[in-house]
Amino acid sequence: MKNKNVLILGALSDIAKSIAQKYGENGYNLHLAARKIDDLELHSTDLKIRYNVNVHIYEFDLLKTETHKDFIKNLKEIPSILICAIGLLGQQKDGENDLELRTKVIRTNYEGPLNIISDFANIYENQGYGTIVGISSVAGDRGKASNYIYGSAKAGFTVFLSGLRNRLAKKNVHVLTVLPGTVYTKMTLGMKLPKLLTSSPDKVANDIYDAVNKKKDIIYTMKIWRLIMFIIRCIPERIFKNKSF
Ligand SMILES: NC(=O)c1ccc[n+]([C@@H]2O[C@H](COP(=O)([O-])OP(=O)(O)OC[C@H]3O[C@@H](n4cnc5c(N)ncnc54)[C@H](OP(=O)(O)O)[C@@H]3O)[C@@H](O)[C@H]2O)c1
Repeated sequence: MKNKNVLILGALSDIAKSIAQKYGENGYNLHLAARKIDDLELHSTDLKIRYNVNVHIYEFDLLKTETHKDFIKNLKEIPSILICAIGLLGQQKDGENDLELRTKVIRTNYEGPLNIISDFANIYENQGYGTIVGISSVAGDRGKASNYIYGSAKAGFTVFLSGLRNRLAKKNVHVLTVLPGTVYTKMTLGMKLPKLLTSSPDKVANDIYDAVNKKKDIIYTMKIWRLIMFIIRCIPERIFKNKSF
């Protein structure tokens, strides 16, 4: 049977914090995983007080793959919803010259999420239910000069989620791909963002909560980004390559 438990990986991300609030306010027990356990402790105390739900916290580093087996084993229970909010933008210009940085960006946005989600996919497939939410990005819809290292990793992640959904659709396991446009968070701090096209973490959290309940496959948040990215994808490469993005 489905349980009212949600596991959030990257629980200290600004979007993840809003997601935890949304699920907490709807009576879900929260399982929160992040690298900084002290910060997570503070965050969980706040959530417990506000929503009167159980909040379990776990130290979790996506890139320390050797710890993942124990991480899963030590979960209080297997939550029926898994949400991966982990991401790393990195400075594109730095990444062009820095092997270590670009490897980290690729591993954090693609290899890491692929590995941990694959483990949960097997568990959900065996138990015959579960929901997997992967937060990818519109940056994965088309490569542009200003962020193509991050974007290409997100593109890989989007394709992974699509294939996983295709594998698990008949197994009662729901896979949701979330494609945010720009969102005001730590990740975009100091960047000049288009006001009308940029959403808040709360808006993204509401859209995710709604999409999980409606068993949607792919959502763009804000919705206008679906149209924007459609148009951007339609621009012929010979024109696109000369544009400044
Ligand atoms: N903000 C946007 O405009 C935007 C747009 C499209 C997609 N997204 C995606 O939305 C998701 C949430 O991002 P956000 O905007 O909320 O940014 P954020 O606040 O910077 O959150 C990113 C989180 O990823 C965590 N993280 C990075 N590497 C990790 C690792 N190895 N192990 C565990 N956690 C790790 C960070 O942990 P620490 O707290 O320990 O650093 C941080 O909490 C990301 O997948 C991002 O790519 C964001």
